Amino acid sequence: MFKLKDVPLNELESKGIIIGLFEDQKQNQAHYLHVNDMLDQHLDELVKSGDVSYSYGSVSKVHTFGKMTVKRIYFVGLGKKDELSVNKFRKALGKVFKQVSKDSIDSVALQLESVLPENNTDDYYEALGEAFSLATYKLETYHTNRDEKHQLTEVTVLTSEDGMIDRMNVGLALGSGANVARHLVNLPGNLLTATDLATFAENIAEKHELNIEIFDKEKIEQIGMGALLAVNQGSDEPPRFIVMKYQGKETWENPIALVGKGITFDTGGYSIKPKDGIVGMKMDMGGAAAVIGAMDAIGQLKPKENVVALIASTDNMISGKAFKPDDVIVALNGKTIEVRNTDAEGRLVLADAVAYANQLGASKIVDVATLTGGVLIALGTAVTGALSNDEEWFSEVKEASEAVDEPIWQLPYFDDYKEMVRKSHIADLNNSPGRLAQPITAGAFVGEFAEDTPWVHLDIAGTAVTDSEHDLGPKGPTGIMARTLAKTILNRQ
Ligand code: BES
Ligand code: MN
Ligand code: ZN
Repeated sequence: MFKLKDVPLNELESKGIIIGLFEDQKQNQAHYLHVNDMLDQHLDELVKSGDVSYSYGSVSKVHTFGKMTVKRIYFVGLGKKDELSVNKFRKALGKVFKQVSKDSIDSVALQLESVLPENNTDDYYEALGEAFSLATYKLETYHTNRDEKHQLTEVTVLTSEDGMIDRMNVGLALGSGANVARHLVNLPGNLLTATDLATFAENIAEKHELNIEIFDKEKIEQIGMGALLAVNQGSDEPPRFIVMKYQGKETWENPIALVGKGITFDTGGYSIKPKDGIVGMKMDMGGAAAVIGAMDAIGQLKPKENVVALIASTDNMISGKAFKPDDVIVALNGKTIEVRNTDAEGRLVLADAVAYANQLGASKIVDVATLTGGVLIALGTAVTGALSNDEEWFSEVKEASEAVDEPIWQLPYFDDYKEMVRKSHIADLNNSPGRLAQPITAGAFVGEFAEDTPWVHLDIAGTAVTDSEHDLGPKGPTGIMARTLAKTILNRQ
């Protein structure tokens, strides 16, 4: 939470204050001189000895030994003023918020002017909100001896103006949406079944008064989602299809569909994964998590746009009832599919979900999925792979992704790839054309169901989880694309 306050530094009572330092003006910055005076010029010494630094990304903690009413100062180095960007700012602030939170300080002050470049845009305020909610987030664990330390929950922003609070709160909402996604991805498969995921979505819907419908197995059979049912066939857990609607316009027209892959655990099915490849597959509902997280942010921010979230959820299991390679199945739109690989299950459940988006009359579609290991090979962990049939819609999503620093990179969607998924001696499509260009053919398969509706596909298999702690969050689920999706919608109003 952010509170705005206009009090002079020497009257502020607080356990800590964050002060930014830019390299350009060094010791001539007003707040530097002010603090240096209060500390009897000791700050000069600290800078000289390298204990406090201006260089970008450095965080230095200094005790005030009773010379100030504030107990400690967290200096955050921001580098050269004209080299700072919104994305660099978000990370640096994330880093210092995280340090404060680790020190078990629940309330900190921030000298706003000291961290902003000259004539900053309002985007900086939004990034400040994101930095706070993202960086202070802690993942749930099940250690029996975990200590519930204090966490940073409040920032008192020192400023004489108050126009920026709205944008800060937008940033908080975006960050909290991403945290919802992180929480969901973190839940193990035994604690998050398709039914649990649907219940979670219902709670989000209730919180923001969104319309929600959960299709159970019977209803899914009735409408003919044969692809989702095939993936679910080997499971003792029933599937769920989630339809969540946010109406931001006078009438319900031209909704934008956010579609998520919600595989709560992916064993691979009969095309079973090797023992090393199966660990971590609780994250295979990362797309669904991003969509639910985005709806949480959208529900808070109430943009003037119509949005429908569609999530196809099941686990992918093995049993005497499970679907097999060579099976031929029928998707919601009547297209037939030759199953060559039961581990290519994501594109199957997305097929039904994307077809359903078209049945609903979606004006645009974006799907998010942990779809292929191949995207990791192609792009690594820093960038999300994308595919699209519409450059204009793609550029909207791309612009949003850049604004929130969740980079995406477009892969070619040429006819040759479409031909690869259309090649089957027995059905309209095959779900696994082989080793070549896997992130593209997987996306192209989903594209067959988007048909002519403007569509963007985001393969987050490489970006949904990170194996190390970073400035804006812990090791583990990143909540990737929740902010991009929400921002895409916000940008349209
Ligand atoms: N859920 C996996 C993709 C995945 C792999 C996500 C690694 C995260 C990390 C997906 O369902 C899958 O198994 N894809 C196969 C497709 C192949 C069988 C055509 C893959 O990428 O190996
Ligand atoms: Mn799979
Ligand atoms: Zn999968």
